[in-house]
Amino acid sequence: MNDPDAIDFFTDGSVIEDPYPYFDSLRAKCPVHREPHHGVVAVSGYDEAVEVYRDTTTYSSCNAVTGPFPGLPFQPEGDDIGAQIEEHRGLFPSNEHLVTFDPPKHTEHRVLLRQLMTPRRLKENEAFMWRLADLQIDSFLERGRCEFIGHYAQPFALLVIADLLGVPEEDHGLFRSLLQTESRTPGLLGDEGRAPIDPLQFLRERFTAYVEDRRREPRDDVLTKLATAKFPDGSTPDVIDVVRIASFLFAAGQETTARLLATALRVIAEEPGLQQQLRDERHRIPVFVEEAQRVESPVKSDFRLARTSTELAGVDIPAGTTVMVMPGAVNRDPRRFEDPAVFRMDRANVRDHMAFGRGVHTCPGAPLARVEARISIERLLDRMDDIRISEAAHGPADARRYAYEPTFILRGLNALHLEYTPLPAG
Ligand code: HEM
Repeated sequence: MNDPDAIDFFTDGSVIEDPYPYFDSLRAKCPVHREPHHGVVAVSGYDEAVEVYRDTTTYSSCNAVTGPFPGLPFQPEGDDIGAQIEEHRGLFPSNEHLVTFDPPKHTEHRVLLRQLMTPRRLKENEAFMWRLADLQIDSFLERGRCEFIGHYAQPFALLVIADLLGVPEEDHGLFRSLLQTESRTPGLLGDEGRAPIDPLQFLRERFTAYVEDRRREPRDDVLTKLATAKFPDGSTPDVIDVVRIASFLFAAGQETTARLLATALRVIAEEPGLQQQLRDERHRIPVFVEEAQRVESPVKSDFRLARTSTELAGVDIPAGTTVMVMPGAVNRDPRRFEDPAVFRMDRANVRDHMAFGRGVHTCPGAPLARVEARISIERLLDRMDDIRISEAAHGPADARRYAYEPTFILRGLNALHLEYTPLPAG
């Protein structure tokens, strides 16, 4: 592809199928480039992305998850729109979530997450993951085939977050039945012909009940720690602040991790040599997971709003411009990664990838996602031999058909049909 401007990144189906020729042409034109369709400044270069992610003074996160749609709730005026952003913050979609906050509010609220990410909590959560991986595999193993995302990746990623938050195991079935993607299909009716539930409302109600209960009657559990966490100045957050943090983890951590797992399994199933290497040399799994994230980054676009007029890589960025950082493009910048399109197990700098972002908003779930991927791959390799792509679903090796999620935010398969030989337990 020569001229990236011929393509509208936000609507063109070819970019959903394969964004990489577009990313490459964008970067070749300029690692910072104003695309003509929506006036968005696209950042596809590594160093330039670091600059944007690290500079929270110039770039606000108020539009982090929405990008250019549905437009700004005000007409930007002058070279500093900081006051306008603050005045209209409540009108930005998702403004209640951490990812759209800027310092100092962001710093205060991010502290609430610390209770969940202590080494002890992560260790307990890891023990749960080993058990969960087996339970999940047990549910389909004997069939010799599965649709990996629905049967494994989504329920696994969902229940790991539920456990991290301390949701009691007796409630896991409820979370799973109400939040898993299949049950979120619009128009789907529940068992008794009830109206479809709104997953966010369910999460809000559940966590409000948990937090209020633990504040009333503290116990020795994770929900109590979450419910009684304080802001850095010692004040107690409103119940709703805690509830929002908890609910947002499901939004941020489920689909992203499920897509990472799917990418990893696609590579394992496509490359028998690599599959064997990982079976024989388990210590290579973490590096494999990093390279999978670099080559196929689950987050395709992440947004910022220029608060003050600035310049990046020689490109003028007036205040009020939507800036789009593209981790999937950045992670294939040849100035940073040699032969960037090639999946290699021997990259010394593979951990420099930016799939988890950078700066103050860097993904707090990164350690979790990494462990989820490592444990899943370990147990899948232990329990399934000769994992391969289903030709009936995806076509023969020289003419594969994969479909990807139709969104400009995430990059991920929407189904992955696998076949394998079940291995005897133990
Ligand atoms: C492969 C899996 C994942 C990927 C690729 C990923 C990617 C990202 C990225 C790129 C950001 C930065 C957004 C920004 O700067 O605007 C982010 C933020 C965030 N992620 Fe993840 N994430 C993953 C898994 C998770 C998990 C498992 C959790 C939690 C259980 C999680 C929770 C969050 C939260 C709460 C934020 C917002 C942090 C803040 O604004 O300070 N993520 N993630």
